[in-house]
Amino acid sequence: MSGVCALIPAAGHGARFGSAQNKVFASLLGRPLLGWTLEAVAACEAVDSLLLIGAAGDLPRLREIGDAFGGGKVRDVILGGADRQASVAAGLAACDGAEIVVVHDAARPCVQTEHLTEAVRAARIFGATTAAFPVADTLMRAPKAAGAVSDVPRDDLWAVQTPQAFRRDLLEKAHRAAERDRFRGTDDAGLVRRLDPSKRLVHLFSAAADNLKVTQPEDLALAEAILARRQGMRWTPQMRIGYGYDVHPFADGRKLFLGGIEFPEAARGLLGHSDADVLLHAVCDALLGAAGMGDIGVLFPNTDAAHKDRPSLEFLREVRARLDAENWRIANVDATVLAETPKIGPRAAEIQQAIAAALGVTPAQVGIKATTNEGMGFVGRGEGIAAHAAALLFR
Ligand code: CTP
Ligand code: MG
Repeated sequence: MSGVCALIPAAGHGARFGSAQNKVFASLLGRPLLGWTLEAVAACEAVDSLLLIGAAGDLPRLREIGDAFGGGKVRDVILGGADRQASVAAGLAACDGAEIVVVHDAARPCVQTEHLTEAVRAARIFGATTAAFPVADTLMRAPKAAGAVSDVPRDDLWAVQTPQAFRRDLLEKAHRAAERDRFRGTDDAGLVRRLDPSKRLVHLFSAAADNLKVTQPEDLALAEAILARRQGMRWTPQMRIGYGYDVHPFADGRKLFLGGIEFPEAARGLLGHSDADVLLHAVCDALLGAAGMGDIGVLFPNTDAAHKDRPSLEFLREVRARLDAENWRIANVDATVLAETPKIGPRAAEIQQAIAAALGVTPAQVGIKATTNEGMGFVGRGEGIAAHAAALLFR
């Protein structure tokens, strides 16, 4: 292989993003986040080929996205390593022959093609280069242990981003030296720099503040706004509404769970195969219904001993994982519990928190209401509790 090869490390787990799947698959303006990254890199005429680097379970999905958005330039999808450095090293080993190697995080979907062009140009001249942006926030140093807090002048401080680009031999040398010294860095320019800290081995070029790395869930909305505005595009999401209903009878000798929390003062709990959390079951059904994925009975059959007395919050987390896998995002969930006892209102905020945490949304996206049945019907007679829920999904 000759020319310019771009390595796209995508083998992380997105722990800080907190979703069940790799954040690079998260839905961003109706396509996977990685699709935007690949499109921008592939559009760079200076880049000849792309290597996508992923975790074992992600490789088939990465291949699909590479085919769809890589402009025909994705030459391979390869297995990454335990940290970013190991993933890039795996990519480097697979692009022998390339003259220039570009490294760009899959998690930076707002990169502009002109910055990739600039990276390749600068790498040819300086050997190593990175996109960076002057730090805008006031900085201070505050040791985690006790110690004085000191201001850090920011005039000469840069936030380092990707793309980074290197002459391949130089990047290989830097990776070998880091390996030899058992040094683990967070980027490749850092590995080159430490070859000789007395020299300015890495050229900085000013990219853009909006070249953000999607790290926390709230970064997705920022990335969406940046991309939509840049393209003058109005995004019309695909929306789906879902509805769920469930009912369980009271039974002696059972603990009462509603909305993922226990009501220890309740004299009786609800009868069911799992923990019989009627509210969570209605919420699961609303979400599954919206996504066209059947219902909770299909996913977690009560004939399966594995689900006996299982906390329903686990069902809810599993439902979320399935929605994530199909790129669905949750706009909101709203539910009403029908019960003569216990009083739900005083604990509604706790329930909102529990459901929001399981679904990876904010508590404001979860509505929890309750009513008695005014003494009428089975609820009124205190025979059981019922719950209704609605959910709105988009992608
Ligand atoms: N990356 C990788 N291999 C790893 C770890 C990270 O290829 N073993 C990639 C990520 O997929 C991402 C980029 O390196 O595109 C930057 O890493 P980061 O933003 O930290 O992503 P994650 O490691 O996935 O997130 P977290 O640290 O929150 O788990
Ligand atoms: Mg990481």
